[in-house]
Amino acid sequence: MNYDEVVKLALERGFYFPSCEVYGDAQAGFWEYGPSGVSLKNKFVELWRRELIRRDAMMEIDGSQIMSGSVFEASGHLASFADPITRCEKCGLTVRADKAIEEISNVTIPESAEPAEFDAAISENDIRCPKCGGQFSGTERFNMMFKVGIGPEQKAAYLRPETCQSIFVDFPRLFKSMRGRLPVGVGQIGKSFRNEIAPRQGLLRLREFYQAEIEVFCNPGKLDDVPNFAEVENTMLNLQVADGYDAAIQTVSCSDAVQAGLLPSRLVAYYLGLLAEFYEKTGIDMSKSRFRKLGQKEKAFYAEVAFDFEVEVSTGWLELVACNYRSGHDLSGHAKQSGEKFEVMDGEQKVLPHVFEISMGIDRSLYTILEHSLTRDAEHDDRTVLSLRPYLAPVHVGVLSLVKKDGLREKTDEIYRTIRRKCDAFLDHSGAIGRRYRRLDEVGAPFAITVDHQTLQDQTVTIRRRDSMEQSRIPISEIDGVIAEHIAYP
Ligand code: GLY
Repeated sequence: MNYDEVVKLALERGFYFPSCEVYGDAQAGFWEYGPSGVSLKNKFVELWRRELIRRDAMMEIDGSQIMSGSVFEASGHLASFADPITRCEKCGLTVRADKAIEEISNVTIPESAEPAEFDAAISENDIRCPKCGGQFSGTERFNMMFKVGIGPEQKAAYLRPETCQSIFVDFPRLFKSMRGRLPVGVGQIGKSFRNEIAPRQGLLRLREFYQAEIEVFCNPGKLDDVPNFAEVENTMLNLQVADGYDAAIQTVSCSDAVQAGLLPSRLVAYYLGLLAEFYEKTGIDMSKSRFRKLGQKEKAFYAEVAFDFEVEVSTGWLELVACNYRSGHDLSGHAKQSGEKFEVMDGEQKVLPHVFEISMGIDRSLYTILEHSLTRDAEHDDRTVLSLRPYLAPVHVGVLSLVKKDGLREKTDEIYRTIRRKCDAFLDHSGAIGRRYRRLDEVGAPFAITVDHQTLQDQTVTIRRRDSMEQSRIPISEIDGVIAEHIAYP
């Protein structure tokens, strides 16, 4: 299904919608999750915790969203976290120079290129303002961090543009208090903020967004010493390592990728393997995924080597995760800026750990899960079905009364009250039964149970399965067990 169909579903079924939508001065790039979206997000996060944090015995923290200027002085964001922008001299429209050039002339210039390169491309391709046809001024850099004033003195601080800076500045305390040993991963779920010039496409480019970031601290001299590598050695990865956005994709095991020199180390291969196994379990179509090695000019300023995990959706390839080998960039920056010690002992060796990060965009991941799961069932009146994995479904079971009279409403309420504490249940008494089933299909509920007159006689209900639409009768006493078995995480 395509982007517009996902947004329609999101708006109609309470997944997500624009923020402050009743006001005309609402800003673009801010969206909210409704009840179905929150439920899906919580389950996605639980899967992330199971498959990455707990599986690899990582730590998890929850840091502040507003951080001091020193943090971003040290990290390089104050100097380098900036997009190239250009303004129309006639109407004042401000656009990202790289995007305007690409959209109008199809010429791709990496966002990290020098301003002069954008100016040359604007002039050579006669790029003009899409709104009024005016000429663009010289390209400048625009820092994307939101500055905030703290207290009456309005002391400068920033909304974090990536969650991981808390992990870096907290590292010495964490390593000591939690008796860490290298290599060790530290994860965090939280919001980040970027003053995007052109936020668009709902959850795909937001100014306020959720990240699930993992920073793996390692000894740079031991990048091939990965105790659990055997767990992923046969896990397959789609790798695109040659230069060029459309270069060939090779499907290889983690082990072969290291041996063939496609990946720089077993440590990188191990974490890409864990990530691939995680996404497989989200229900995303992995045949439409790739780990794309970024070119020199595409990488973020802090990355030594970078692979983006991208998935093909109806709008094109979408980056869901940035996997960056950040080397000693962050810890050495914070050590210098703060005067604190960031080296730790690895056995007998004192080292400044290097960092490999797995920086996941939660909003984009949820969008992709929705798009890949949303189908039309041609065999059954083209019904819309959100075929989510049962453990990610916002509603596990709909509880319906066939009719409201003759005591069926009361019996249905009684069953609902019992099961809603064990799983996500949705009670629905009103409307035609067929339409109620369709609504549950659209929200991805794997089961619906219906209470009818027979229920009052023999204590059984009809249970309907979302994907097959198969219906059978089971005793009320077995409802919990059937549902629990199907919604368990794998
Ligand atoms: N921490 C990397 C990123 O936010 O893209």
